[in-house]
Amino acid sequence: MKDFKQRVFSGVQPSGDLTLGNYLGAIKNWIGLQDTYETIFCVVDLHAITTWQEPDILRNATREVAAGMIASGIDPKKSIIFNQSQVSAHAELAWIFNCVARMGWLNRMTQFKEKAGKNKERASVGLYVYPDLMAADILTYRATHVPVGADQKQHLELTRDIAQKFNSDYGVDFFPEVEPLIFGAATRVMSLRDGNIKMSKSDPSENSRINLTDNRDLISKKIQKARTDSEPLPATLSELGDRAEAKNLINIFAALSERDAEAVCLDYEGRGFAEFKRDLADLSVSVLGPITEEMARLMNDKTYLDGILSEGANNANKLASPILKQVQEIVGFLRP
Ligand code: TYM
Repeated sequence: MKDFKQRVFSGVQPSGDLTLGNYLGAIKNWIGLQDTYETIFCVVDLHAITTWQEPDILRNATREVAAGMIASGIDPKKSIIFNQSQVSAHAELAWIFNCVARMGWLNRMTQFKEKAGKNKERASVGLYVYPDLMAADILTYRATHVPVGADQKQHLELTRDIAQKFNSDYGVDFFPEVEPLIFGAATRVMSLRDGNIKMSKSDPSENSRINLTDNRDLISKKIQKARTDSEPLPATLSELGDRAEAKNLINIFAALSERDAEAVCLDYEGRGFAEFKRDLADLSVSVLGPITEEMARLMNDKTYLDGILSEGANNANKLASPILKQVQEIVGFLRP
């Protein structure tokens, strides 16, 4: 039996192709949660427009993220899958949270600093208040558990601060304490070109990432081309020291094969990267190939995808509306 008090929420931005980072750091870990939690997975299109998106490309990417989730094993019969802009409670609660969160809190957000770069005067205001909307996504459902990659940890800490301040400002015990679920062997998948930066949809180099739209051949080529060093692999992870690229590939191997990274390292002790990369390329193709192919198939059935998103939005709305109503009452909005 599902325990419906335990609600999971997570989201992915439709701001580019889904990457291996999104898959290993997030989506893959969601699959097993579907049987024990009530699960809600959202394509966060409101978040995506905090940086410029071509409307047609955004529409396509929204379907693509939904297709990626389903192809990876998110079952629309078990989970709610929808896109954020179809449920207006997210934006309404985000406004209230804009008035709860403090400037000082948002000023500390590293993702804003990274994304705004040197020219923060020219960043959108939306990008700045992005974490408030993320808190609203989760708390619109009073979700308790949020499975994400390591890069979202700071945003989830802010979500807890917002929930706490709301509760204490209004003297209620309304929003729960949100618990991040950061697990798996690859909580932070790094670029294939530079082991010190995160694999990201927005990296200008295509070879830095594996996209879930890449075919088998391309996946294999990108792994073969991944940057490495000339040393053989040691027996333990600690002996890898600061060999960031090597560590990253071992973690990817471990996550894809659902094994412990130490065990993978030991298997390849004393061997060079040529052999390791050949095996990793085969493994990547065998795990990701069926997903990318199913995703491509689903993308040819837009009616099906749109139906899932619209049914998901209906169900999400049913959960969010009464919660938003209670919040409006707590805040003191007159609704005769
Ligand atoms: P986004 O769209 O950047 O990424 C979606 C999920 O993928 C994870 N991820 C990674 N994990 C490991 N290694 C990587 N290289 C990597 N790149 C991405 C992210 O941690 C994330 O779990 N702000 C969120 C979306 C969001 C959200 C939410 C998440 C909006 N509202 C509410 C949870 C709950 C984001 O930009 O994810």
